[in-house]
Amino acid sequence: MGLYVWKYGYRKILEPWAEKFAWLDPDIVSYAALIISGFTAGCYVLAAEYPVLLLLAILLIFTRMTMNTIDGVMAIQQGKTTLAGEIVNALPDRYADVVLLLGLVYCPFCRQDLAIFAMGTVFLVSYTGMLGKAIGVSWQHHGPLGKVERLILLMVFTLIQLFSPALSFLGFSLSPLSWCMVFYIILGQITVFNRLRGQLREVCLKEWPASRERQAVAGRALVVYDSQTGNTKIIAERIASTLSVKCCSVKEPFDDRLYDLAIFCTPNIRGNCTARMVEFLKKTPPRFNYYGIVVSYGAPLWGWPTAVKTGWSVASRLGGRPLKCFLVKGYHAKFKTYKGRPNRADQDKAAVFAVSVARKMIKRSAYEQ
Ligand SMILES: Cc1cc2nc3c(=O)[nH]c(=O)nc-3n(C[C@H](O)[C@H](O)[C@H](O)COP(=O)(O)O)c2cc1C
Repeated sequence: MGLYVWKYGYRKILEPWAEKFAWLDPDIVSYAALIISGFTAGCYVLAAEYPVLLLLAILLIFTRMTMNTIDGVMAIQQGKTTLAGEIVNALPDRYADVVLLLGLVYCPFCRQDLAIFAMGTVFLVSYTGMLGKAIGVSWQHHGPLGKVERLILLMVFTLIQLFSPALSFLGFSLSPLSWCMVFYIILGQITVFNRLRGQLREVCLKEWPASRERQAVAGRALVVYDSQTGNTKIIAERIASTLSVKCCSVKEPFDDRLYDLAIFCTPNIRGNCTARMVEFLKKTPPRFNYYGIVVSYGAPLWGWPTAVKTGWSVASRLGGRPLKCFLVKGYHAKFKTYKGRPNRADQDKAAVFAVSVARKMIKRSAYEQ
């Protein structure tokens, strides 16, 4: 979860102010934010002669953040949420990023090569975010270096720059603003990766229903689950509905000779599957050619490693190797951890897992024939 979600809280605070400026066109605010970025860049360029300008730069960055938030609120209040408005919302913002980073390229406190790389990275972050819209999925906002995060990072490092000309880390000594650019490059690349992964997930789910693979797997697969408080059931049902296959509880009898692929879903109970699932696997050693495993867990910190152990214990009972394993957080009714999980994003990940297990099975069975 990025700081992007905080924007919604800040929006609430700005709502009464947006009402006061109801006479003002939100597009003007968007363009004014670009001008503010120009002034911020100027502050960085002249900071060696007038270091106090770094303080002004922080103030201007915060002003730009506020303007970038309030323009959207004003557009909603004034009923001006048009497609053209979206362009005005996005394009000056990208220009503002370029202008701001140009200021850092020419800032005597910042290493020029790092600022240039950072500028390229920031542009790629925005590009990959919007690429989703271009290919018909959603605009991607996640990742550690969204706009809010990068502006906050810049404000923090600008403040440090005021008091300390150099910072040493891992044997490297750079100015705080140069370190900020290093963070932009590293976190930016992680963000690009995150956003592309999010897009690929959505694309996968969008293309799957009409795919030949879906038809090939229907009737050949089965989802078997156990669930005490409902979390694992939610995930099992989503997997089954994605693959259009039968979903049954361990309590129900079924003929395992009919299926090539089974996906076993269990909660993590102290590093093992449920007693019912253990009994089920013991009593009727299933004869599936291929299988996948899902474990939902609810404990903090040790939840994930013990869920891995649970996955291994299911695999060791079934023999062979699972095609894939999926671990998902689920609300722990005793500890009250992970409230609201599995949420929609978890269910979407489960659906993507289902698709990749099915694809793997189809590939393997074609290879083995
Ligand atoms: C008796 C009990 C023991 C549990 N032990 C663990 C545990 O050792 N580690 C863990 O991560 N979660 C543990 N959990 C949490 C569950 O694995 C988690 O909430 C899971 O999503 C529950 O799935 P269900 O709603 O399908 O039953 C435990 C839950 C219960 C009720």
